[in-house]
Amino acid sequence: MIGNKVQILKNFPSTNDFLKQQNKSDLVDGEVVCARSQENGRGQRGNTWETEPNKNLTFSFYLEPLDLNVNQQFSLNYFVSVGILECLKQLVDKPENILLKWPNDIYYGDKKIGGILIENNVKESKISHTIIGIGININQEQFNLRTATSLYIETRKEFSVEEVLAKMIHSLDISYNLFVKDFMLLKKEYLNHLLGYQKTRKYFNNLQDCFFDGEIVEVGDHGLVKIRSGELLLEFGLKEISFVFD
Ligand code: BTN
Repeated sequence: MIGNKVQILKNFPSTNDFLKQQNKSDLVDGEVVCARSQENGRGQRGNTWETEPNKNLTFSFYLEPLDLNVNQQFSLNYFVSVGILECLKQLVDKPENILLKWPNDIYYGDKKIGGILIENNVKESKISHTIIGIGININQEQFNLRTATSLYIETRKEFSVEEVLAKMIHSLDISYNLFVKDFMLLKKEYLNHLLGYQKTRKYFNNLQDCFFDGEIVEVGDHGLVKIRSGELLLEFGLKEISFVFD
């Protein structure tokens, strides 16, 4: 169902905005729009998403999830993350290096290779429709950010962005089916690939301005992460902690 309709644009400021600007009645559930070049990409928390033209994958899709309550909205993130993960695992020699980082990032080792921007529309406490934007670094060789990487940097291979898009759509569709049919299994797969899940690592508490060690024990469908630190069970929302990479 995801990929019922696919449009490839030469150039558009933001594929999320492209879908937002369409008449809802003209959109098909699962419709995908991809831009070869995106000059004004939006990232999480009001950040920008910088991407070299014609080198990377920047696309969005429109979805009308059935009966999803607003307090379960983070669960959409599980299927999107797992779909991306399963696709990227097939493209690299060391699939174990592909990881999910709470809340919205895709990592290769300790570097960010992709990000997700989910924009939900709520009606009477249900998600009526959502626009899911995905950016994956494919053939870009250099980044201003030390913490960013691409498939090319990690594999020394060049990829056809359109072939990766086709594989990504297929993988997202499989994972969306799992979301609908076996949510527990999907969640298990998400947690099994989550950076820091049941493993002690270092974090920075942005609220209290201090480092701490802990292990992630759970992620709630509302999006909060639970971290056990010594005797304490702590719960954090978006922006409240940062992962520390040595
Ligand atoms: C992040 O900050 O990590 C999320 C980045 C999401 C970027 C994608 S690229 C396609 C889609 N269109 C946008 O404007 N943003 C998302």
